[in-house]
Amino acid sequence: MRGAVLRAVSRTAHFATREKVIVMPSVKSSVKGWKAAATRLAVLIVIVVQPLGLGTGWTQEPVQPRIDEEFAKQEKIYRRRDAGSYTANRGLLNYAEVLPSGFCEALGSLGSSDRWLDIGAGEGHAILDYYAAKDDAAPAEKCGGSGPRARAVAISIEDRRTDKWQQQAARLGDDRLRYLSGKRLGQYSREELGKFQIITDVYGGFTYSQNLSRFLDRALSLLDIGAAFYTVVANVHLENGKDKLGTWYQTELVDAASRPVTVCSWLKQTTCTKVTCESKSDWDEPSELIKIGKVCSGVSVPKLNIVEYLAGAPPGRRFQMAP
Ligand SMILES: C[S@@+](CC[C@H](N)C(=O)[O-])C[C@H]1O[C@@H](n2cnc3c(N)ncnc32)[C@H](O)[C@@H]1O
Repeated sequence: MRGAVLRAVSRTAHFATREKVIVMPSVKSSVKGWKAAATRLAVLIVIVVQPLGLGTGWTQEPVQPRIDEEFAKQEKIYRRRDAGSYTANRGLLNYAEVLPSGFCEALGSLGSSDRWLDIGAGEGHAILDYYAAKDDAAPAEKCGGSGPRARAVAISIEDRRTDKWQQQAARLGDDRLRYLSGKRLGQYSREELGKFQIITDVYGGFTYSQNLSRFLDRALSLLDIGAAFYTVVANVHLENGKDKLGTWYQTELVDAASRPVTVCSWLKQTTCTKVTCESKSDWDEPSELIKIGKVCSGVSVPKLNIVEYLAGAPPGRRFQMAP
């Protein structure tokens, strides 16, 4: 019964997310009052719906036509540029807040020939902060230091470059600052992108991808050995089990026998990596701040299949590990 409650809560609250994320000012991606309201509503729905024997929000088997409809809706969300869109302008200090400890030091230790890839960069604000001129460089001094600047590549499905980005890119040249759009990470060849010493993903592809294992496999293939991928994922079962009762989940994983699996325990089955997960006890949403260090070249990410996808900003996703 508890699983069923959580699944129903997941779905209902997810729709609330799609409505409300548009006004969220916070990097912790969101929600306070409305989430509590959504949870109360969801619990009510569960109380009403369960005795009637109606299904819960998430289904175990993929229902292909419905998933395809959700994928199509998601495409529209990426294309929206109005108030219905999502937060795409987090700066470097926002990144520092939501990425695992050690990110700023790692960024600061890069040399001028090193490379930083930001997947799902949105407006590329974090990179602009990193490259800000000296008189405007407060965020970068706190995160990334004052040493030489690495070359930076921003990837976004849709082109969200601002005038500020265009001016900065024109000043620095393509060699230092690149913005790639029109495709997802997985649609670029490894040769096109090259290798990186740091990859970040702040509520980008790791949060939105429909094929999480393939997405991660591609991201890790772009890392040099010794380099690391830094990301964050919200509303997940925590590795330390400290997510509060009544939590709703945006990204859920189950094993081949449909038993719940945490994102971190799945990640830790990836060969040739060192995975660390941190969570913040004072955050409203149970989130994992994840660092994946690449320690050798034989990386193999355990495959996940998507069984449910609910379009949104961010989407709701349920994956099942392949047998
Ligand atoms: C919510 S915005 C976050 C933007 C930025 N990281 C920030 O925090 O302000 C999501 C971004 O992820 C991008 N995105 C989602 N899935 C992606 C994928 N598979 N490959 C590349 N970009 C992706 C979207 O195009 C968008 O730029």
